[in-house]
Amino acid sequence: MPRATFLGHACVALAHEHHRLIVDPFLSGNPVAAAQPAEIDVQYILVSHGHGDHIGDAIAIALRTGATIIASFELATLCAGEGAKTHPMHVGGAHEFDFGRVKLTIAHHGGGHGENASRYTGPPVGFLVTLGGKTLYHSGDTGLFYDMKLIGEMNDIELAFLPIGDNFTMGINDAVKAVEFLHPRRVVPMHYDTFPIVSADPMVFARQVKGAEVVVLKPGASVEF
Ligand code: NI
Ligand code: MN
Repeated sequence: MPRATFLGHACVALAHEHHRLIVDPFLSGNPVAAAQPAEIDVQYILVSHGHGDHIGDAIAIALRTGATIIASFELATLCAGEGAKTHPMHVGGAHEFDFGRVKLTIAHHGGGHGENASRYTGPPVGFLVTLGGKTLYHSGDTGLFYDMKLIGEMNDIELAFLPIGDNFTMGINDAVKAVEFLHPRRVVPMHYDTFPIVSADPMVFARQVKGAEVVVLKPGASVEF
């Protein structure tokens, strides 16, 4: 069975058979990170957008391990410029990799990197990742959008990672509505309590969600799917 390990903030490590992936590896400077960048050994790194709390240590890990960075064309180009191996994709596009399938979804947010996020890194994305026949949805940073209903209709989502921290992304009420649209079997809240500005109580989220099991993972905890 594929396994997802929450490493804090929006970082999720995925493992299935000999395949190892990580999404949004913000570990250095992340006060809730459950791993150090040097401990990460993966073949693929998925990066949702260029903000520092998502691209994080992606380039350093890619250079050390030889992992391929999967990201939007603009963000992949930035990473390739730093010497990383990349697989550029874009919104609506899917690709079959050796580990399974990745499809990029829309996300309503920004995309910039470097000083004052001044370098445009393309639109932010979310990911549908199919591993061992099971589909995981990691929304990236986003506000609620009605097309989540379409994503839910067209995909049998086993596990969804959704932000609940408000301010920069959906807050609890909107994330509850997102679960209604996506109807995953299980949902894991993310992007909260990393910094005071994104404080949220995952138990409030858990109490409001209907039709899906809420799995609150502490950084470092795993779930099979
Ligand atoms: Ni962001
Ligand atoms: Mn973020």
